[in-house]
Order: sequence, then structure tokens, then C-alpha cells
Amino acid sequence: MYKNRFSRVGYVLAIAGSAIGLGNIWKFPYITGANGGGAFVLVFLLAVFTIGLSIFIAEIILGKIVKKDAVSTFETLSPKNNKYFKYIGFSFITGVLIISFYPIVIAWILHYIVLSFDTLPKSVSEAENYFLNYTQTGVFSQLFYFSLVFYSIYFIIKKGVKKGIEKLNNLLIPALFIIFLGMFLYSTTMSGFGKAFEFMFYVDFSNFNTNSILIAVGHAFFCLSVGVATILTYSASISDDTHILKATFFVVIMDILTAFISGLIIFAIIFSANATPDKGAGLVFITLPAIFYEMGSIGTIFAIFFFIALAFAAITSAVSMIEPAVMYLIERRGVKRAKATMIITFIAYFIGVFAILSMSNEFKEYLSVGGKNIFDILDFFTSAILMPLGGIAISIFVGYIMDKELLRSSLEPYMGKYIYSSWLFILRFLTPIAIFILMLKEIGVLNF
Ligand code: PFF
Repeated sequence: MYKNRFSRVGYVLAIAGSAIGLGNIWKFPYITGANGGGAFVLVFLLAVFTIGLSIFIAEIILGKIVKKDAVSTFETLSPKNNKYFKYIGFSFITGVLIISFYPIVIAWILHYIVLSFDTLPKSVSEAENYFLNYTQTGVFSQLFYFSLVFYSIYFIIKKGVKKGIEKLNNLLIPALFIIFLGMFLYSTTMSGFGKAFEFMFYVDFSNFNTNSILIAVGHAFFCLSVGVATILTYSASISDDTHILKATFFVVIMDILTAFISGLIIFAIIFSANATPDKGAGLVFITLPAIFYEMGSIGTIFAIFFFIALAFAAITSAVSMIEPAVMYLIERRGVKRAKATMIITFIAYFIGVFAILSMSNEFKEYLSVGGKNIFDILDFFTSAILMPLGGIAISIFVGYIMDKELLRSSLEPYMGKYIYSSWLFILRFLTPIAIFILMLKEIGVLNF
């Protein structure tokens, strides 16, 4: 049982810090842009409030009841003599895989902060060349920032839950909101704001296809950090006076609001410059910098704050991906925190270096499979396969395997009878079936 607990506010900010990340600010706007806008946003919201939320609450309650690392949690709650359910806890490995490529994007962000102080590319085509050139030939620069990010993560995790994770989130999450609020208020005065609003909230299914559903559901997982034992592990350090349902709603609403606000800011900037929002993953690194340049000195200020906010959001998420694996080593293997942190960061760092090399001109030939580099493979494999698998396993365990009376008595005081029954219904039926069907489509077994 953990002695070192989050404070009430610290817990809420820590899980908000985990949930709010590149998924909201970098990925959400570009996948919304690529999947037609409002219809995609609607399906994403549905997925968050059904599938995503049901697993999110399941992870919180698992962590709160047992207050141990993920593997011990499933072991403790397994029916007597069952040795296998504890393996669900190893879903923390997905977090270690994510943390090997996620900081590469943070490395790009750090590079773009420095670039914003210097000169940004002058047009979208120049920005496109610049970005491609940087990812393909800037190996040393990427490795430099990547190492810096890993050192920072190591430094924070080594300090533990209260002195490391809680302090970091208490500082960065409010700072992120302040920056975003300022940028959002400014963006409402821009000529493209109305169009941005319409693009995000006008529901039109003409550009929407079944693939978009898959992306929306996968993103609901990623955005809420579920299926990788992160929320479970943070919740093992929850204080007794934290109201689970209130904390959950606060985090989920903040998570969605951040995604919406960053979408509105980005699209307002893009539409004001008569550019298009369909640049894919390069939206933030190609389209935006070129527009920031055109905006003159206010653009430079925007660029600096935007990339700093992005870095803050990403670091708090990155830290949360590693903690479950570190906790496992501490609790189950008796490794000291500093050493456990060193081991996990080193493994992730090692994989990440290959992911960087796999994008470079020199090595991409040797380090890609089926035309995909390691970065893309890790991204696809974790968010399309491993996170949903973790989600299914958690929903089945909580919905069918663990003691029903323990579950009910732990949750009902916070939720009341009706919300509790609706939640359990979604968790037992909708969530596993929907994820299963979508995964079959993802791997090509089903075609619709
Ligand atoms: N929720 C984070 C984001 O939206 O960027 C990503 C993430 C964090 C995924 C933590 C998984 C995780 F364990």
C-alpha cells in the first residue's frame, strides 16, 4: 500500500496532466481536419462518453481499491487460485512503448520553440521542406532534444509521486490553461474564427467514413490515457477524501475542452490565412509555423507560447506513461525507485533512438517494415491494437470477473444506483463488443 499519496487537487491535476497531451493539441485538430470536421467531433464525443469513460472509471476504482501496482491489483482482485488475470497488469508495457516515440514529437516541439525565437519558415511549402528535412536529416539535433526530454522525465519520476509528479502537474497544468485561455481569447478576434467554429461543430457526414469511426474511437482511448494502467497506477495514490465521480468529470471535461480550444485556435489561425486544415500530422509543424511567420511579431509571440504550452502538455503525459512500469519494478521486484526509473527510461530511450534513425535518410531503408518506419509502427501498434486490447481486458475483468459486491460498494456511494447501473451496463456490453468489432476491422478481418 502506498504511503505517498496525492493531495486532492494534486490527483485531479495529475490525471488531467496525463490525459491532456499531444493527443489533444497536436493530434485532435489534424485528425478532425482530415476526417471532415463536425461529424468526426460528434463520434469522438460519443466514444469518449461511453467506451472511454467506462474504462476510465474502471481503472480509477481498481487503483483505489487495491492501492498497489497494476500487476498486484489484478492479482489481488482475481478469483482464488486464478494465476492468469494478473497478466492484464502488464498492459503497462504499452506505456513503455508509447514513451519511446512520444518524446520524439516533444523533441520537435523544443526545436520549434528555439526556431520561433530565430526565424520561422516563410511559406507553407518552405515549412513543409523544412519539417521533412529536419526529421530526415536532423538526427543529431533530434537526439539532443530527445535526450534532454528523457533526462527531464527521469529526473521527475525519480522524485516520486508527491515531490515529482504532483509538483510538476501543479505547475504546468495551470500554466498551460493560462496560455491557452490567452490564445483562445485572441483567436476569437481573428477573421477565421467563425469558420473554425463552423468547421468543428457543423455536423456533416459527407466526408465521414467507417474508417473515421475507428480513428475517433482509437483517439478516445489515447486522449483519456486508458488501457495502459496509467490511470490505475495514479489512482493507487488517490487520497481517501477524493470524490471519484467529480474528479472524473472534471478531468474528462478539461480533456475535451483542451482539444476543442486547441482545435478552434489552430483552425482560426488557418482559416484566417486562407489555408486548408488537411495537412495531417504536419498541421502543427508545417501549416502553423508558416502562418505564424506571416502574422509578424504577434505571430512570433503566438508561436513561442503555443509550442511551450504544447511541450508542457506533452511532458506531463509522458511522465505518466512511465510511472506504471516503474511502480511494478518497485513493488514486485524490490528495485529502488531511482534504479527502476533508470531501467525503464533506458529501455524506452533505446527503442526511441531507433525510431528517430528509422526516419532518417541514412537508415530508413534498414529500419522500416512494409514501407512504415519504426515511429509509425509504434504509433499504430500502440493506439490501434495494444490500447484497445488493454481496454477490453480491463472492461471484462471489472465487468465480469471481480467481486460484484466489492465493486458496487466501492462505486455506488459516489455515483448512486442509476449512474452505477448504466456505467456497468456500458462496461459489460457496449465497450467490449464495440472495441472487438473495431479491432477486427482494423486488422482487416471485417470489412465495412
Ligand atoms: N493522453 C495522452 C495524450 O492525449 O496525449 C497520451 C497518453 C498519456 C497515452 C498517457 C497513454 C498514457 F498512458
